[in-house]
Amino acid sequence: MHIHKYEQIWIWGSLILIVGYIATIVYGGIGAGIGMVNDSGGTITPPDQPLQSENFRQPGTYKNDDGTYSTYVLSQQFAFRPGTGAPIKVPAGKPVTFYMTTKDVLHGFNLVGTNVNVMAIPGQLAQFTVQFDEKKTYGLICHEYCGAGHHLMEGRVKVVSEDEFKEDE
Ligand code: CUA
Repeated sequence: MHIHKYEQIWIWGSLILIVGYIATIVYGGIGAGIGMVNDSGGTITPPDQPLQSENFRQPGTYKNDDGTYSTYVLSQQFAFRPGTGAPIKVPAGKPVTFYMTTKDVLHGFNLVGTNVNVMAIPGQLAQFTVQFDEKKTYGLICHEYCGAGHHLMEGRVKVVSEDEFKEDE
C-alpha cells in the first residue's frame, strides 16, 4: 500500500506526540516521587520525613554556617507557622532557602508582589530560594483551597536588615 509522504510525516508526528504524552504521565506518576494512599487509607512515608526533622519541630529562620539562611515553615488549617501571628523574619540581601510542608491538607504559599508561589503538599517538602533586597513586610496568602477557613489563612514575611536579624527567640 502506498502512503503519501506528507501523510507519513503526520502519522509519525502523532505517534511521537502520543509517546511523549505517555512519557510525561509516567514521569509524573513515578519520577516526581509523589505518593498516594490506596483505597484502604493508610499512610505514606516520604523519603525525607519532613515533619520528623529537628527544624520542623521548631520552625523559623536559621543562619547556616556558610552565611546563608534557611527558613522552615509548617502550614496547617488555617495558619502558617511562623507567618500567621508572628511574621516569618528573614534578613535582607542574603539568599534564604525556604523549606515548607503541611501537617494536613494542600496549602498554598503566595507572597504578594513577588514571584514566590508554592504549593505545600502533605508528605512532601517544598524547597525554594529567594533573596529579598529591601526591608519590607510582605503579605502572605494561602491560595489553594484548604477548607472552611481558607479565606482567613494569611500571614506576613518581614524582611529586616542582616544586623537586626535574630534567630527566633
Ligand atoms: Cu490553607 Cu487555603
